[in-house]
Amino acid sequence: MKPWKMGFLGAATDELAIWAGETVVEKNIQSIGVPFLGSAKAISMMGLRSEVEIESWDLQYVCSLIINDLFNAQEPKRNIDKPRLLRGPTFEDRPFDHMSDRVAGLIDYIATTGTGYERLALATAIVGCTHRGRLDSWMENRQDSALWGTFQNRLVKQEGYLGLPASFTHYENDFYSSLPDRSYDLLYIDPPKIITNTDVYSTTFRRLNRMIGPDHQHMEFDRWSKYDYTGRMRGVLDNVQSKHMMFVYTSDVRPGISTLKILFEDYGELVEEKRFRHRARIDYGLLYRRTA
Ligand SMILES: C[S@@+](CC[C@H](N)C(=O)[O-])C[C@H]1O[C@@H](n2cnc3c(N)ncnc32)[C@H](O)[C@@H]1O
Repeated sequence: MKPWKMGFLGAATDELAIWAGETVVEKNIQSIGVPFLGSAKAISMMGLRSEVEIESWDLQYVCSLIINDLFNAQEPKRNIDKPRLLRGPTFEDRPFDHMSDRVAGLIDYIATTGTGYERLALATAIVGCTHRGRLDSWMENRQDSALWGTFQNRLVKQEGYLGLPASFTHYENDFYSSLPDRSYDLLYIDPPKIITNTDVYSTTFRRLNRMIGPDHQHMEFDRWSKYDYTGRMRGVLDNVQSKHMMFVYTSDVRPGISTLKILFEDYGELVEEKRFRHRARIDYGLLYRRTA
């Protein structure tokens, strides 16, 4: 089975997700804590055994849809049979330049009348219509029918990820204000990365919450910066115990990988290091055995 994908900028590479899944088997990991879920690619590979229990957190509404309406669901619940238009928040606010009336109205129609399973397919279709999945600019040259077509394809593709074997519990919440009071076999840490001054989620991804979940637009996003980065990592490691930690990072971000490696050495011993080439960057997967 291939890792689950939704075209998000910054999602882990396939190889990294597969390695995460293999580690769960090799180390006989049964409980996993995931403070920053994101597109859930890695856990789609870590959740392939029924004895595994996975707890995750994220502030994006789409993450709740992935867990509750796909990985934890047994069937594809559907409500929408043909494209219709509705005037809702996306139509009124037009979150992107060059988004046509037809596209905006279709998004509002699916987001308002669709099931969770359909809202998830809508989210992936929206991501696919933005430049390199960054959610910062709408691809002007996309035909109006592209969104409906991608939505239809995704409804079918998603089916392969219905009812994954593991047991998943997800919190649509800020990890730091809802810390778990338990320990895990593995803590899987794939935090937002800082390329310039802040993370992409609190800047461009907040639009997605508003478009796919008109009733979820209240969520505040957590803004990350390079200045408090190591403090935030310690905020995870000081507060949650685990036998192992898997840390996922990348090159060309701030702070650099060597700073984070020094920090993790305060908490554990490096047992495996993987490097995966991803376009012009290198993705790191570091596995630590907790010692402190
Ligand atoms: C780098 S992504 C995770 C990537 C993921 N592994 C993937 O493959 O897509 C980081 C995620 O952290 C989430 N996030 C940021 N601050 C958070 C917080 N305080 N609590 C929970 N989630 C948070 C963001 O919304 C984002 O989805």
